[in-house]
Amino acid sequence: MDGLETGSSSKILLRALAGEASAVPPAWLMRQAGRYLPEYKATRAQAGSFLDLCYDPELACEVTLQPIRRFGFDAAILFADILLVPQALGADLRFEAGEGPRLSTVTDEAGFAALKPAEAIHETVSPIYETVALLRERLPKETTLIGFAGAPWTVATYMIAGRGTPDQAPARRMMLTQPELFAKLMGRITEATVDYLSRQIEAGAEVVKLFDSWAGSLSAEAFETWCIGPIAEIRAALAARHPGVPVIGFPRGAGARYEGFAGRTGVDGLAVDQFVPAEWAAKRLQTEVCVQGNLDPMLMVIGGAALDDAAARLKDRLAGGPWIFNLGHGITPDADPRNVERLLKALRG
Ligand code: CP3
Repeated sequence: MDGLETGSSSKILLRALAGEASAVPPAWLMRQAGRYLPEYKATRAQAGSFLDLCYDPELACEVTLQPIRRFGFDAAILFADILLVPQALGADLRFEAGEGPRLSTVTDEAGFAALKPAEAIHETVSPIYETVALLRERLPKETTLIGFAGAPWTVATYMIAGRGTPDQAPARRMMLTQPELFAKLMGRITEATVDYLSRQIEAGAEVVKLFDSWAGSLSAEAFETWCIGPIAEIRAALAARHPGVPVIGFPRGAGARYEGFAGRTGVDGLAVDQFVPAEWAAKRLQTEVCVQGNLDPMLMVIGGAALDDAAARLKDRLAGGPWIFNLGHGITPDADPRNVERLLKALRG
């Protein structure tokens, strides 16, 4: 990355993405606005449903700000969901309590033909851009605003199966049995994602993150084509439209394939899950890119000395290079907010 805009920033998270190390790392948590916070549950109840909350700019802004007020994180992540893009492309989407997402599926040419063109997504997702603009106005000046989208592979797994699946078999099967249809679907999602993230940046997002939560289920060959490929394409398109705005990639479960990922995709930050050894990340990843991660989310449930020790070990291994503290995946609804305070104390002293 060029680092021209971010290198001189007063915001610690942007400086880390520009390659700077600091004794106390910038910190935020995936799913930091969520059900472990009583104030989130209250606003969510006020909104009615999860999707109503996502599409109400005032309330979505409010839940994004709640963890910033309570904990003083260095970054706020826009409150929305990766499945809003499929919805904006025409899929029916619902969230059933305790069941997770349900979508209408794309399994044949007719299903693909029924999807809207990429440029039509804004009709549905324009409230999200309003949330971004409100956040930029209301966030403390030292807090970085992160926008996001799902990476095309992960989004496709939900569009093809119509729900979360343990092994993403329906999407992997389509990739092999209907390769042309699969490629067209991935192309449409990729195009929509570029437009969606561009508009988030225009509205005020300072960094964008691509969540490839199911990257780990791709074979070595498919990982090249369908994880690295679209992320590199999105990164290049954003660099052309918005030079200097950093991108974080999160190919969760990539294992050894994390190595070289940043060089091949052009991402400025590489989010790693808790299965990657921190020493290895320091030696093999941090030499080329800012690393984000990777504390075990279960420690936010357990707390105590186990949390203090793990945070200290991580700091020991990663604070020597560019590093953004985060968990290896989202904070869970059973986490104790007091453990977040404890964690920040362990990191900040
Ligand atoms: O991180 C944040 O605080 C920002 C908001 C955010 C949400 N989802 C809010 C949310 C982000 C960045 C996401 C990303 C997302 N959504 C991913 C990728 C990251 C990951 O976790 O792997 C995925 C796969 C989804 C799809 C999704 N959304 C699922 C599978 C579910 C149901 C599971 C669950 O945790 O309930 C959701 C719902 C969801 N998205 C909630 C939140 C706060 C819970 C909804 C509620 O309040 O009931």
